[in-house]
Amino acid sequence: MAGFSIDRPAGESVEALAAPGARQTRRLGVVGLGGMALAHIEGLRKLEGISISAICDVQQSALDQAGERFGIPAEHLHTDYGRLIADDAVDAVVSATPNALHAEVMRLCLLAGKPFLSEKPFTRTYEEAEELNALYATHPVPAMIGFSYRYTPAFRLAKRMLDEGRIGAVRSFSIQYLQGWGAAVYKTPFVWRFDRNVTGTGTLGDLGAHMVDLAHYLFGSFEELSARLQTLIPERIDPRTGEARAVEVDDFASFQSLMANGAAGLFQTTRNAVGSGNQLEASIFGDEGTLMASTERPEEVVWIRVDAETGELVRETRRSPQRERLTQWEDFAAMLNGEPGPGLPDFGAGYENQRVLEAIVRSHEEKRTISLR
Ligand SMILES: NC(=O)c1ccc[n+]([C@@H]2O[C@H](COP(=O)([O-])OP(=O)(O)OC[C@H]3O[C@@H](n4cnc5c(N)ncnc54)[C@H](O)[C@@H]3O)[C@@H](O)[C@H]2O)c1
Repeated sequence: MAGFSIDRPAGESVEALAAPGARQTRRLGVVGLGGMALAHIEGLRKLEGISISAICDVQQSALDQAGERFGIPAEHLHTDYGRLIADDAVDAVVSATPNALHAEVMRLCLLAGKPFLSEKPFTRTYEEAEELNALYATHPVPAMIGFSYRYTPAFRLAKRMLDEGRIGAVRSFSIQYLQGWGAAVYKTPFVWRFDRNVTGTGTLGDLGAHMVDLAHYLFGSFEELSARLQTLIPERIDPRTGEARAVEVDDFASFQSLMANGAAGLFQTTRNAVGSGNQLEASIFGDEGTLMASTERPEEVVWIRVDAETGELVRETRRSPQRERLTQWEDFAAMLNGEPGPGLPDFGAGYENQRVLEAIVRSHEEKRTISLR
């Protein structure tokens, strides 16, 4: 890349990049100024010790608007993410671009030795994930992948209750993630989320990545799976041409898994579920009870069990205690200070997630069960 360079000081360790106790203000550069980036900026700006020092978007209007809103000097408004990553005023990067750019932004961050938060899915393809993983082995930096639902109080509480053995050994579970905006009734146009070249997969990488991560967070690694992907609406109108354009990615994905802990899982996701806004939910069945958690009631877990003395069925709603709550942005800031919370979705979680997504696609294409051992 001409005009600037991304160099990492030789021999710099991952610890040196996020030294515990080194509490200087962290200056963040944000790439992609769409819906998710603005949510990240709002969340991060509330934290002490964090400032937004530079931003990047290819849309000049988005760049100018955000620059004015967040008071970013003109010399730190970039249209080229390489320049933002190389900007001396940037200590760490937050990236929320369309999926096709995730790998390249992370690659440049690794080469520059700059910690990052990069959005899901980890990458567009598994090949990209493998290349990045090889680079990470020699150039590690503290990294968070945008699996934001690990910070939903209900799922954190469910995880703690599982770890405490509240429902005994987990035998099976179901996870579904439903949105409605893509349904036929809305005549949703062809946006980047339907473009295979940009996304890799459809609802699978978009929403399925969160389901896979939630299962990973709650139950550990995947051992085997079988899947089916479907394109429910094969053409959508491209707003740039007014013509129908073929959709080559899934808008319904279902799969079943066997986890390494022996639990059997059932998953479904679609963006065509009329009436669902952003509905991610898990039902977990153990030897001694059931847990249910959902973004529809993001602070609560329903716990059903058989009372040991009376033999009666008890249904209790537990609220996540305030003291246990942690936002994704607080954990990102803690990571930059070398003190990430347990369960932070790190680089390895991103890579593993992409490995599972690839197995899902392969299972669908080859119509067979895929082993992930
Ligand atoms: N973790 C979550 O819950 C969550 C939720 C929504 C989106 N996301 C992820 O965040 C990412 C962005 O999604 P979104 O909904 O904000 O999309 P969006 O379309 O609203 O925003 C994307 C932005 O990136 C910009 N962009 C495109 N090419 C660029 C380039 N070369 N350099 C710099 N900027 C560029 C676009 O102009 C746009 O402003 C996606 O990968 C998506 O999967 C995650």
